[in-house]
Amino acid sequence: MPRVFSGIQPSGVPTLGNYLGAIRNWVPMQNGDESLFCVVDQHAITVFQNPAELAQATREMAAALIACGLDPARCILFVQSHVPAHVRLAWIFNCVARLGWLNRMTQFKDKAGKDREAASTGLYVYPNLMAADIHAYHATSVPVGDDQRQHLELANDIAEKFNHDYGVAFFPRIEPMILGVAARVMSLRDGTKKMSKSDPSDQSRINLTDDADSIAQKIRRARTDAEPLPSEVAGLEGRAEARNLVGILAAITDTDAAGVLRLYGGSGFGAFKDTLAEALVAHLSPIAGEMRRLLADPGAVDAALHLGAERAAAIADPIVAEAERLVGFLPPR
Ligand code: TYM
Repeated sequence: MPRVFSGIQPSGVPTLGNYLGAIRNWVPMQNGDESLFCVVDQHAITVFQNPAELAQATREMAAALIACGLDPARCILFVQSHVPAHVRLAWIFNCVARLGWLNRMTQFKDKAGKDREAASTGLYVYPNLMAADIHAYHATSVPVGDDQRQHLELANDIAEKFNHDYGVAFFPRIEPMILGVAARVMSLRDGTKKMSKSDPSDQSRINLTDDADSIAQKIRRARTDAEPLPSEVAGLEGRAEARNLVGILAAITDTDAAGVLRLYGGSGFGAFKDTLAEALVAHLSPIAGEMRRLLADPGAVDAALHLGAERAAAIADPIVAEAERLVGFLPPR
């Protein structure tokens, strides 16, 4: 099986979008040293983070991943800043990627907003660090949500240019793995925006730590239209909010949109929302409970992460040292 790598930013509590679009798909991909999952704290600081909160959020994210089913004994789970090979390779990639390529990145445009001059340079070169995260391990399978597609295309362009410029077939091509009916979970307040941990409105998302009452309340208040649910998938066309809620229930009950509509087509949103809230509470409350249990012993979470970083470095260090040699750096020893 090819080597798997994926990452998640500790810029808040993981959302239902992170869970359905990414984390849940990582669990069956655990395969010892061939599967790496990284809490990307260096990516998080491309937008200012309160330092004490970042440290805590990094540990909480690791606990959330373990609570969702990642087992530090069956995969490599670690924190990005603990493995310096990532930034060493990112520097080389800063010199390989072209300004024109980065100028096309839609996520930079979204995150930088209107005042682009005030965005950090880190936010701009973010995709180069992301490419380094993956290529430092010669990973080829990258399970992500749909919003990361453009970054992965860029990571392939960077690898290709490196290989071309230095005349070697050193970095392999990456296969994006964009899986399931919920590769793009949308905001509960606006069906055209993705659900995000950094959205200012907490009502826009379900957090993995939300209790039963807030899940029920957020789903009850989720925006919908006035029509009953359609009986066919085609009837969801142009109904972004309805499509989103149907997609969430499909993902959480392991079916597809057609399966959900077979049961709920023709009914109004009231009963449907009750079912959805119940399904979410049943699915998510064991995860929140397990997270609380893990965080009662923060030292144990940190120890697992330190071990993960050692195992990650053992793979990345020789690969990045070879990239540095290919570039022409004098060997350090
Ligand atoms: P991040 O932290 O924004 O999100 C982590 C994962 O969750 C997915 N995701 C979603 N999927 C469906 N619906 C949503 N609303 C939703 N929101 C987030 C993301 O697609 C992602 O898979 N740049 C990455 C982190 C990263 C990375 C990497 C990923 C850094 N280095 C190397 C893969 C490989 C990011 O910001 O993810």
